Amino acid sequence: MNTSPAQFLALCTVLALSLVTAVHPAVAQSVAQSAAPLLLPPSLAPQITVNALMKDTIDPAASALWTAVSYTATVEGITETMPETEEDWNALRARADELIKAGALLMLPGLKVNDLSAVPPDFQYSPAEIEQLVQQDPGLWRNYAERMQTTVLQLMEAIDRRDLVAYTELGPPINQACEGCHGQYWYRPMPR
Ligand code: HEC
Repeated sequence: MNTSPAQFLALCTVLALSLVTAVHPAVAQSVAQSAAPLLLPPSLAPQITVNALMKDTIDPAASALWTAVSYTATVEGITETMPETEEDWNALRARADELIKAGALLMLPGLKVNDLSAVPPDFQYSPAEIEQLVQQDPGLWRNYAERMQTTVLQLMEAIDRRDLVAYTELGPPINQACEGCHGQYWYRPMPR
């Protein structure tokens, strides 16, 4: 298509106007107040929930990463477990990759937490309460997911350097990234 200068200017004006509308505070506010639509086909919504990501992907991947280096003391002596072969390291890298990608899924707008009929113990928030907490400040939720991703990314870099010391040292910070989010969204504040 050939665009004349006049047509080009008109197009720029339309684009500029739509940008103004996009950032107008009143518009931004009404977007923030309405619950985000779920960006998943409805048939997948029960499949990809916070609960399912935790149980099926995040927890198994994190456990595999945490137990890859361990010392077990028995009467026969100390058994050390650590990645040694290329295969061992590559398997850990794949686990770290899964965690980073699951972190991205946690950021899906409108992601469901769990079947709403799930009844948690008293000290935990219910799935409906968690969804409400996330909607109150979606940016904060994203920060927690991002913190997990960036910490795991450091682990991946340690894996790529075959740096066992750095790898071992990153175990606790990853756990803190998990527990920071759990403390905010999963466990109710402790009664004082
Ligand atoms: C962005 C927030 C967030 C991050 C980061 C996060 N979690 Fe969770 N996790 C939750 C929430 C919210 C729940 C409760 C959801 C539910 O099951 O109702 C949960 C639940 C769980 C559960 C219980 C699942 C069940 O019902 O059996 C496990 C296990 C878990 N998380 C492990 C982890 C581990 C391990 C990490 C870090 C590697 C992690 N989580 C990181 C938010 C997070």
